Parts: sequence; C-alpha cells; structure tokens
Amino acid sequence: MRLNRFETALMNNPVRAALQRRFEAPRLRRMGGSMLGGAALEVGCGRGVGTDLIVTDFGADSVDAFDLDPRMVVRAQARLARSAARTRIWVGDVCAISAPDASYDAVFDFGIIHHVPEWRDALAEIHRVLKPGGRLYAEEVLERFIVHPIVRRLLEHPMTDRFDAAGFARVLEAAGFEEVASEKLWGSFAWFTARKREAT
Ligand SMILES: C[S@@+](CC[C@H](N)C(=O)[O-])C[C@H]1O[C@@H](n2cnc3c(N)ncnc32)[C@H](O)[C@@H]1O
Repeated sequence: MRLNRFETALMNNPVRAALQRRFEAPRLRRMGGSMLGGAALEVGCGRGVGTDLIVTDFGADSVDAFDLDPRMVVRAQARLARSAARTRIWVGDVCAISAPDASYDAVFDFGIIHHVPEWRDALAEIHRVLKPGGRLYAEEVLERFIVHPIVRRLLEHPMTDRFDAAGFARVLEAAGFEEVASEKLWGSFAWFTARKREAT
C-alpha cells in the first residue's frame, strides 16, 4: 500500500537518506557481502537513495528498481538521471514483478515488505526473479513497531497477518531461501540476508 502523507515526508528527507547511507546499507553489506558486479533489483525503491547505493556501495553493474507509487518513481528517475545507463526505474508491484524467472543476482528490500498485505506472495515473487544462489538483502519493520499506539496514529500499515523476525525467517525458509544472517533491534526492526537455494 502507498504511504500516508506523514510517512511520505519521513521517507523523502535528508535524515532518512543519511540513515540509509550510514547505517542500513553498511549493515546489510556486512551481513551479506558486496555484489562484485552483476544485476540487482530494488523493490519499493522510494525516491531512489537505495538504488544509488546498490551501485556505489554494493558494486552492482546495473540496478532495476520499481515502486507502487508513481510520484516516488518520478523522484527516483530524477535522482538517478546521471546513472541512467545503469539503472531502470518503473511503476510496479512487488507481488507481480515484471521480470522473467532467475533474472537477478541480488534483490534489495529497504523497508517495504511490511507495507504489503500479501507479503508472503512478495517473498515468493522475489524468490522467482532471483538466480539460484542469488542474494536477498532485506531491512524490515516488525509487528511490534506497527501496532504501537503512537505509530498507529501517525503511520498507515496493513494491520492483519504481520510478522515478527522469526515469522519472516520462517516464510523465507518456506519460499526456498537459506538464511545467511539476521539481526534485530528492540524487537521492532530486523535485517536479513538470505540466499536462494540451488535446485537439488
Ligand atoms: C517505507 S517506504 C521505503 C522507501 C525506500 N525503500 C526507502 O528506504 O526510503 C516503502 C515504499 O514501498 C512502496 N510500496 C508499498 N507497497 C508496494 C508494493 N506492493 N510494490 C512496490 N512498492 C511498494 C511505497 O510506495 C514506498 O515507496
């Protein structure tokens, strides 16, 4: 689902960008390693700060990225105009990714799956578009944060069938991923890196 006005303002500001650059991306890189080239996909790219980092900090050769909200896509396209040869941005839904099976070496989720009512379908789609052995890098917001009374007043999230860190890890496993690493903060935020299992 799209962000409400308050969360849109939270996402489209320099503090969010600084957090993503200084804490989120370095943490995920430490947990999952760099890409050393290859093709990446970012789901729910927002205004494209993460898309840029996937090239500059993770070392992807190219990044495809999409977001459900066309206004976010316009922002991301403007931000990434200089690297247009290596990036492709479109309006799209993580539950129906417009890419063939086994297209990507890595998929990045900077805090979007908790906005998706059918989040299990989203993980299955991500699994489908990853190459065998490809990596998922995910930063997620957990049920405990979403249901907090103050958060409920300010932000809008799907409220049923939310996940804690163990629940997210279980669905990753069931979708065909093998966990590489996971970390939690305050029971409210979690980071996961996982590998798509090779076919047996
Ligand atoms: C919390 S924001 C994070 C944005 C960006 N990844 C960042 O870290 O700044 C969640 C984003 O997910 C997008 N989104 C929500 N549901 C989506 C879906 N089903 N498919 C793709 N994007 C979605 C929203 O439009 C929003 O831009």
